Amino acid sequence: MKKKFKSIETKYMEERNALFHSLKNLDRRSFLKVSAAAMGVALAKGLVAPHSFSPVTVSRAEASTGQGESFRFAYISDSHLYEKDVNDRFVNSLLRAVDDVNNLEPQPDFVFYGGDLAQLGQAEELELGAQILKNLKAPTKMMVGEHDWYLDMGEKWRELFGEPTYSWDFKGVHFVTLLSVVERDFWTARGMTPMERMQTVAGLDNGMQSSFMVGKAQREWLKKDLARYPANTPLIVFSHSPLYKLYKNWNFWTDDAEEVQAILNRFDRVVVIHGHTHQLLTNRIGNIYFHGMLATAWPWPYAPEGMPELTIEMNRPDPFNPNAGCGDGEVQVHADGLVDKVYNLWNRNPITVSRSFMVSWGKEDVPPRPNLSSY
Ligand SMILES: [Fe+2]
Ligand SMILES: [Fe+2]
Repeated sequence: MKKKFKSIETKYMEERNALFHSLKNLDRRSFLKVSAAAMGVALAKGLVAPHSFSPVTVSRAEASTGQGESFRFAYISDSHLYEKDVNDRFVNSLLRAVDDVNNLEPQPDFVFYGGDLAQLGQAEELELGAQILKNLKAPTKMMVGEHDWYLDMGEKWRELFGEPTYSWDFKGVHFVTLLSVVERDFWTARGMTPMERMQTVAGLDNGMQSSFMVGKAQREWLKKDLARYPANTPLIVFSHSPLYKLYKNWNFWTDDAEEVQAILNRFDRVVVIHGHTHQLLTNRIGNIYFHGMLATAWPWPYAPEGMPELTIEMNRPDPFNPNAGCGDGEVQVHADGLVDKVYNLWNRNPITVSRSFMVSWGKEDVPPRPNLSSY
């Protein structure tokens, strides 16, 4: 019988799973021996060293604020899945992120998926993603990215994951998920097919699509949703695109950002966590703190202009390492609603962008700048 071809990542995943399986029955001394051996094997093969880790952020609930206890959630984003037959690298990347999150001890309170699960919004891509994410041990919340939406205008996504705009409360924090990639109709007048529309939205620099926005209907919904909360409620908003204006040509941009910010401004502290930009990105506008998250698929380069001052840029990726510049992340939510954001780059040490760094406008607890040479 013909031997089935296995990619290097599949083999790596299998070895890694076997390793984790065997680790369960080991005492501490043998664990160190086995993990050192595994590290040696990985290095000798030129593979990335085992990267799973459990960052420990010690956080004291601030009893004085009376605003609940601290907790954490994990974040996975921008997997851009093709069907497995077309490309299995991105599929394996998502599998690995799920595996990493499942190995966190203790488990996060929930996992948030930041959008662009699919590459071209096809049913097979979205179904494959849903199947993989089902393996997460912690409860999962989903957000839409433009790559998930513009083939069938969200029909399959809604069928799999429900409504794209929603809110909930957890341990004293109010969470909101928005669909921030609404575009004006550029396709009907041009007589585009659904796939042409999807491919246009998926492209950069094409000058044909409209800019992303939250749109009037969702802004109205947001106003109503927030109306019942007092200004000292910790508020965390999830959006796919950054809710500010960074670089229009790549749609690192939300056209009605100022109007959305005006709705959020009423609150003492707001954290906005977004995907889409596939890179370490940090911004603060008044009382609104913005954190960009890593992709599991690929890192985007930094925009040529408009970079926020608080951003510590990560290294440009090593073009010979398909995992460089990618990863998943964790968010430690403090009792006051501000967060420490852990970037878990797959081939680097984790980097934490702390709340004290942002509160002090970049003066305290500055995250380490990348110290590897750039490519
Ligand atoms: Fe993306
Ligand atoms: Fe995106």
